[in-house]
Amino acid sequence: MDIRDIMDASPVMPVLVIQRIEDAVPLATALYNGGLTVLEITLRTPVALEAIALIKEQLPEAIVGAGTVIDAQTLKAAEDAGSQFFVSPGVNDGLLAAAKNSDIPLLPGVASPSEAMKLYELGYSALKFFPAEAAGGTPMLKSIGGPLPQLAFCPTGGVNPDNAPSYLALPNVRCVGGSWMAPEKLIREQKWAEIEAMAKVASQLKKG
Ligand code: 3PG
Repeated sequence: MDIRDIMDASPVMPVLVIQRIEDAVPLATALYNGGLTVLEITLRTPVALEAIALIKEQLPEAIVGAGTVIDAQTLKAAEDAGSQFFVSPGVNDGLLAAAKNSDIPLLPGVASPSEAMKLYELGYSALKFFPAEAAGGTPMLKSIGGPLPQLAFCPTGGVNPDNAPSYLALPNVRCVGGSWMAPEKLIREQKWAEIEAMAKVASQLKKG
């Protein structure tokens, strides 16, 4: 699947930190039922790879990717678990070489025009803007869109229900990423209905 199609499948990409494997499928199901069909499982916990495989098996309609892919090793592990896309906070040579040898698309993170231009030179025109709020937020993305209108972004990091609409209103933003609809506390307490309700609100955000 093309990374731009994945970005267009849902206005919001939930960024998930799954601590307990038993939470993986109920969490993914709540988000999916709320209308968020693209899920990013971060490789920040010991069960993350198992969670990707399990969600893929039990919720095959969802588009499941791996986040926090930071080198060749994590990319290979995410691919073996069945990830349909990779998301990285930034890039390094090992990660880029591994991504080049994989058929699975990478959404690489950038925080500046130079980083974006380097990746564009390598063939990447769809990028994660990270950490979105800390790196300049909507004014920064708007400014990048002037000289580099061919680049499309998924801003992530500090995006929330209040600022998501202004990101989505920008012509160079195709979706936003964020963790607000799946907070750690609600996952720990297995409040799936509350998570589904927040997902539903997020899924109804409109691309401007
Ligand atoms: C992260 O680093 O966990 C992601 O960028 C999500 O950031 P957020 O928790 O600010 O949405």
